[in-house]
Amino acid sequence: MKLGILTGGGDCAGLNAAIRSVVRTAHLRFGTTVLGYERGWNGVLEANSTELDPENVRGVFTQGGTLLGSSRSTPKLIEAGAPALIEQLHRDGVDALVAIGGDGTLMTTGMLHNAGFPVVAVPKTIDNDVAGTDVSIGYDTALAVATDAVERLHTTAASHDRVMVLEVMGRHSGHLAAGAGIAGGAAIVLVPERPFDAQAVAEQLSLRHHAGRYASIVVVAEGAVPIPGTAPEHDPGVDIWGKRRTNGMGELVGNLLAEVTGYETRTTVLGHIQRGGSPTATDRLVASRLGAAAVDGLAEGLSGRLAAIHGEKTALVPLDDVVGKTRLLPSEMVDLLDPLTTAGPVPAQGHTRP
Ligand code: F6P
Repeated sequence: MKLGILTGGGDCAGLNAAIRSVVRTAHLRFGTTVLGYERGWNGVLEANSTELDPENVRGVFTQGGTLLGSSRSTPKLIEAGAPALIEQLHRDGVDALVAIGGDGTLMTTGMLHNAGFPVVAVPKTIDNDVAGTDVSIGYDTALAVATDAVERLHTTAASHDRVMVLEVMGRHSGHLAAGAGIAGGAAIVLVPERPFDAQAVAEQLSLRHHAGRYASIVVVAEGAVPIPGTAPEHDPGVDIWGKRRTNGMGELVGNLLAEVTGYETRTTVLGHIQRGGSPTATDRLVASRLGAAAVDGLAEGLSGRLAAIHGEKTALVPLDDVVGKTRLLPSEMVDLLDPLTTAGPVPAQGHTRP
């Protein structure tokens, strides 16, 4: 048996740990050879691949990015469809495939499975919004980076009595914003799951200010949306899939808060820093577990599954149950943001300037 592997979509920390786990499990547990496709599905279409064995993935689990490279699924790819991909996989002698990716990769994986090719997907995205799994590869590292950014903003905000707006990734869900905002001690967190009243946010900052809290951190998920009429119209356009783009929400919130409150405000867009660097220990573990589960599943004859983390166990969830779905913040996490976003009584230790 020969296994194919690819990484699709935006990169993140932990992909190399997943690749290593797939290669080691395939070779050492099942004696299976592995062919790595370069730059995601493009590598299959362009017949661009390399043989992988335990020796050439040795030590890669601490490295960020993906040694295979990545690319996003495009409408062109979908148009080429499963037949073109399967033809090349057969030409390469590949019997089954592990596809590591987010929503786009899952969609293409489902397409292959429906066309009869054995395939299992492994979830990765710093947004942590793949349905059917407790966690995706890359989230924990991005959370650590974003939390560190919030912490760093505290000291500079306090030195200058400023409002600091931090935009973090999170197109459809606020896992990163809520996680970093709560863990980092932000005053206000805006997430896509709960449209925000921009005027009320400005009002909360004023209340904090009058109670002696002159420095505030506001964490904004890139996909946060204002309640219509409470903020200026913002149209970032649509992507190649016709989905709403997300750029500019941090800037919009920062400008609006400065204008309405008159407080000195600075905006930081954390961007792709969240996707880079060495994976945390948790991401290395998650990736290692998911990679092994995917190979085990294929060896058992399963296909059309998502390797998932369910508490202390791994599971292989039918792709049909997860493709096209988004794992949103659980409501108790959204509720946890309430005390942050309502002004409430501000503790007396808020400092006062002479
Ligand atoms: O899909 C994950 C993600 O990190 C989103 O939060 C972000 O909008 C997007 O990737 C940006 O990706 P790229 O710049 O690579 O297209």
